[in-house]
Amino acid sequence: MEALIVCEGVTKIHPPRSLEDRARGFKAVDAVSFSIEKGSSFGLVGESGSGKTTLAKAIMYLDPPSSGSVRYRGIELASLSARALRAERKRMQIVFQDPHSSLDPRMRVQDSLAEGLVNLGVPRAERERRVARLLDLVGMSASNAARYPHEFSTGQRQRLVIARALTMEPDFLILDEPVSNLDVSIQAQVINLLNDIKREFGLTYLFISHDINLVAYMCDNIAVMYKGKIVEQAPTLRLLSSPQNEYTAVLLAATPGGAPHLM
Ligand SMILES: Nc1ncnc2c1ncn2[C@@H]1O[C@H](COP(=O)(O)OP(=O)(O)OP(=O)(O)O)[C@@H](O)[C@H]1O
Ligand SMILES: [Mg+2]
Repeated sequence: MEALIVCEGVTKIHPPRSLEDRARGFKAVDAVSFSIEKGSSFGLVGESGSGKTTLAKAIMYLDPPSSGSVRYRGIELASLSARALRAERKRMQIVFQDPHSSLDPRMRVQDSLAEGLVNLGVPRAERERRVARLLDLVGMSASNAARYPHEFSTGQRQRLVIARALTMEPDFLILDEPVSNLDVSIQAQVINLLNDIKREFGLTYLFISHDINLVAYMCDNIAVMYKGKIVEQAPTLRLLSSPQNEYTAVLLAATPGGAPHLM
């Protein structure tokens, strides 16, 4: 197996906000190391505030790490110029929890989805063809291209956000709580969609959630994050059957077994 993403000692210190951390800032991610094999789904689970989104943004270099190393396809991201980083980052895309803030309300679906392609200089006819194909793929008709985000439900908007991520032909997707804002009845559909496109395009996922059942359903390997540190990581079956860390056991005990709402 070949690693697509390798993190070593990734640390992120946020600027100080409170009196206590005035001097040093707040260490939201603390010396995190893991690697994600090509084509696999790697789960990151932890309670609110444990540092999951901070880590996701650090891996993408949207808000770069304070220290440590992130390698993507063997390339040390810290070594890249801004231009080279932008080029690499096309193939790493992130989908956030809230599709409402992810889509510009003033832009038609066609323009939102084609934005990255415009920047790449892809001609209009080709952009329209690609957007139509992707809308179709995420279960939204291509006829929706002329509509605005407010015309869609939250679940439909998250499908649009997923389609937009795919326009850049990524090989790596970070999914940061991608279904947390959706009704339970819609969650399963979007999870199935994510599994379908992963297969179709041979994608690699970093799947982030506070729900260990969902992560277990989606992922081959799981890392458990607690207060900025990864306290345990293991293949999914092993983590479920014999959690080594106390906090993992707490997460498992807190939720009923299995992921019945997904079946
Ligand atoms: N820009 C920032 N400046 C200062 N502190 C921040 C910043 N962003 C996040 N934090 C703090 O860092 C910690 C980790 O936040 P983060 O959003 O990464 O957690 P999370 O695991 O994604 O939580 P959630 O499950 O609620 O999304 C929190 O204590 C948060 O308040
Ligand atoms: Mg978060």
